[in-house]
Amino acid sequence: MFELKKDDTLIIGKGRHRTCYRHPEDDAKCIKVVHYAGHGGDKELERELAYYKVLDSYLRDWRGIPRYHGSVETDLGTGYVYDRIVDFDGRPSQTIIERYQGRLTSAQKEELRILVEKLFKYLYVNRIVTMTLKPYNVLCHRLSETEIFPVVCDNLGEASLIPIASRMRWFCRLKQKRLFARFYNQPVVCQLKE
Ligand SMILES: Nc1ncnc2c1ncn2[C@@H]1O[C@H](COP(=O)(O)OP(=O)(O)O)[C@@H](O)[C@H]1O
Ligand SMILES: [Mg+2]
Repeated sequence: MFELKKDDTLIIGKGRHRTCYRHPEDDAKCIKVVHYAGHGGDKELERELAYYKVLDSYLRDWRGIPRYHGSVETDLGTGYVYDRIVDFDGRPSQTIIERYQGRLTSAQKEELRILVEKLFKYLYVNRIVTMTLKPYNVLCHRLSETEIFPVVCDNLGEASLIPIASRMRWFCRLKQKRLFARFYNQPVVCQLKE
């Protein structure tokens, strides 16, 4: 049983449904706990875990998705263990929103443009779909002083009862096209259109 409640310094980030904690015994992992059972969070989690099973069956390049390591018991209920995304210098990787807040310099804009291109290419090549693609769910994983790789940490998978996008290539592409178009209208990322 892991104790997360007593130590606020373990908190990495909070979303609408889950809080993400540092794993107390493994710095390379994090534990996510659903805030309130029954508020949609459970369903999303089930969907995500089902999608991880699909990914496990074919995905080889996991650079853009944190791996899932099963569930554990915590003092806040069931916790779900994932790889924790940490930069090369040991700092927690920031989300796109965090890294690119405020007015961007042209160098930052260029960096963001390359990052978004890498994100689309990664998802496209590996046929990965997400329910929605939001800049606050994409981490900027700094691999070195000059290289960043995007990691999607939330909203993986698809809603349909029969996961068509996971099975049919053209449907996956269609879904991705819509996802990418919407992503460009999101805060921060929309600056790339200027
Ligand atoms: N694997 C991870 N490694 C590092 N930080 C993470 C990871 N997953 C999530 N986070 C951080 O925790 C926040 C909340 O997690 P998230 O899975 O997005 O919760 P929710 O499903 O409630 O939106 C994220 O916005 C991000 O800042
Ligand atoms: Mg989130």
